[in-house]
Amino acid sequence: MKQLELLYEGKSKQIYATDNAQNVIISFKDDATAFYNIKRAKIEHKGKMNCAISSMTLAYLNEHGVATHFIEQVDDNGQLCRVVEHVALEVIVRNVIAGSMAKRLGLEEGIVPENTIFDICLRDAELGDPLINDHHAVAMGIATYEELETIYQTSAKINALLVELYRKAGITLVDFKIEFGHDDKGCLVLADELTPDTCRLWDTQTHERLDKDRFRRDLGRVREAYEEVANRLRDALK
Ligand code: TMP
Ligand code: ASP
Repeated sequence: MKQLELLYEGKSKQIYATDNAQNVIISFKDDATAFYNIKRAKIEHKGKMNCAISSMTLAYLNEHGVATHFIEQVDDNGQLCRVVEHVALEVIVRNVIAGSMAKRLGLEEGIVPENTIFDICLRDAELGDPLINDHHAVAMGIATYEELETIYQTSAKINALLVELYRKAGITLVDFKIEFGHDDKGCLVLADELTPDTCRLWDTQTHERLDKDRFRRDLGRVREAYEEVANRLRDALK
């Protein structure tokens, strides 16, 4: 497998072609952005740490019967992944109230609801990835009701597996964002990173934030928090 030309550069990742048209290499950058590029910084080694965290997590999901785009980690920053047709949705799964949901509904962060909460957002950065519902998604031709049902069921399975993995690491999986795609056979696959950039991760004992909220909210020790997640995951998977 050979890495070829750069196909796309996003805020935190680059995508390279490979000599197999079915696969790409996703390379994680050290750049951190929040609030749609208003806040920007480079966090030393973030790319490497996110690549390790996402690779461990996606490999674990593959092994536990959740199809993902991840094939293998190829170097410190890169993952070999299958090319998929992206669904224009972001799915947010919430186990603990935090972030935009707390703000929008005037709730305190840290409340643990009895149910798992699933949000769907339109994947459109120019519109600020707005929260939508199933009827909007169907009306816009993004997914059928049946496909949405599969997306919710798969998201629930991913959540159950990740909650258990992070529990072993002494970390509470507060919430996370994921995106899906369809592979060449039309099967739904998870096609995203799973990192402290896209998950809220709180130390179970102290509730210390071990995720990108440290950057968003200027809490300091961002790199240390990502390192802690990588090390604890590595131990939990032993
Ligand atoms: P929120 O509380 O801001 O809606 O975020 C919920 C989760 O989704 C949180 O873990 C961070 C993640 N997220 C992303 O990965 N990308 C985004 O653009 C946003 C807004 C949130
Ligand atoms: N969508 C946000 C950004 O533009 C991401 C975030 O706050 O996590 O960076």
